[in-house]
Amino acid sequence: MTHTAIYPGSFDPPTRGHEDLIRRALGLADRVIVAVAINPNKAPLFSVEERLRLLDATIGPEPRIELASFSGLLADFARSREATVVVRGLRAVSDFESEFQMALMNRRLNPGLETVFLVPALDLTYLSSSLVREVGRFGGNLDGLVSPAVAEALRQRFGA
Ligand code: PNS
Repeated sequence: MTHTAIYPGSFDPPTRGHEDLIRRALGLADRVIVAVAINPNKAPLFSVEERLRLLDATIGPEPRIELASFSGLLADFARSREATVVVRGLRAVSDFESEFQMALMNRRLNPGLETVFLVPALDLTYLSSSLVREVGRFGGNLDGLVSPAVAEALRQRFGA
């Protein structure tokens, strides 16, 4: 039986923390779908197409990873792709409450779906896309925190 995991997120933009979790998820499942959520209530810095391109550039070639986007409920998307595991990262205690609620709601909506929490590499635990956007906006150094493709996309976006 092939086990498919979904790693969903906004990825606006993808960071080395996301990449770290994607590689760890490959140790748990045969196939990992990295799924960019389309959220009409958010005004992202990068379009869905840009985020998929940046994920591709960040991860590089890996046949067991698929990049996708989805709208609507994650629980429904997981069912449509026959995924049985959702992977989410836990960086700090502050992440826990909302992640706990989301995991329970997703399991209620799709009883075949289990959420697995992974902890990123210690030196990436403070990293978030929102911090990356903030540092990028003011031209700060993001070496080691995002891929060169994301650093370049931020420079172009902010004209830094
Ligand atoms: O990277 P993020 O912003 O923390 O990711 C949150 C995300 C996209 C995984 C979450 O908001 C989500 O699953 N959205 C899809 C809609 C949905 O299923 N919402 C109910 C979750 S219980």
